[in-house]
Amino acid sequence: MDFKNISLIGFMGSGKSTVGEILAGKLRFIFIDLDRIIELSEEREIRVIFKRDGEKYFRELETKVIKKIYKNKKCVFACGGGVVKRKENMHIIKNNSTVIYLNISAQNALDRLKDDKNRPLIDVENKKEVIEKMLGKRDILYRKYADIVVNNDENDPEQTSNEIITRLKVQK
Ligand code: S3P
Repeated sequence: MDFKNISLIGFMGSGKSTVGEILAGKLRFIFIDLDRIIELSEEREIRVIFKRDGEKYFRELETKVIKKIYKNKKCVFACGGGVVKRKENMHIIKNNSTVIYLNISAQNALDRLKDDKNRPLIDVENKKEVIEKMLGKRDILYRKYADIVVNNDENDPEQTSNEIITRLKVQK
């Protein structure tokens, strides 16, 4: 079956990269992780970019990468969790892919990210409050832009990618 590009959006720790890779394999698409492209183009890790140059600089890079990379076809893109913050990003993403929101609860996000040091926005003392507040706000945006919402609380990437494929077929 001939699918459009696919973009996975959702909160940090929702499984976008893991599910994205499996999904790409099943569809014989190319998997592209936007955060990895940013790191490769900058030759430094995201946490270093945030620390040295701040979030605004990172968001500029993110938009720059999106403008280039969405010219490709037959790709599964794993987007950074904050991609929905800019309308400009979502305009390009919506025009060039089917958008899947991988949804998880704040508790699961917290459990999965509690020892994580690579996500600067939640590398804070009061992780629980920050995650709950951020996910609360972001969930509205993820749903607004999603063509399909899939729950990944069970953290079973094989099952989640099969569910996505089934839903994509129904949608066509
Ligand atoms: C961010 C999510 C991260 C990364 C950056 C900012 C966010 O990506 O882009 O740390 O604002 O939610 P993941 O969702 O892949 O962790």
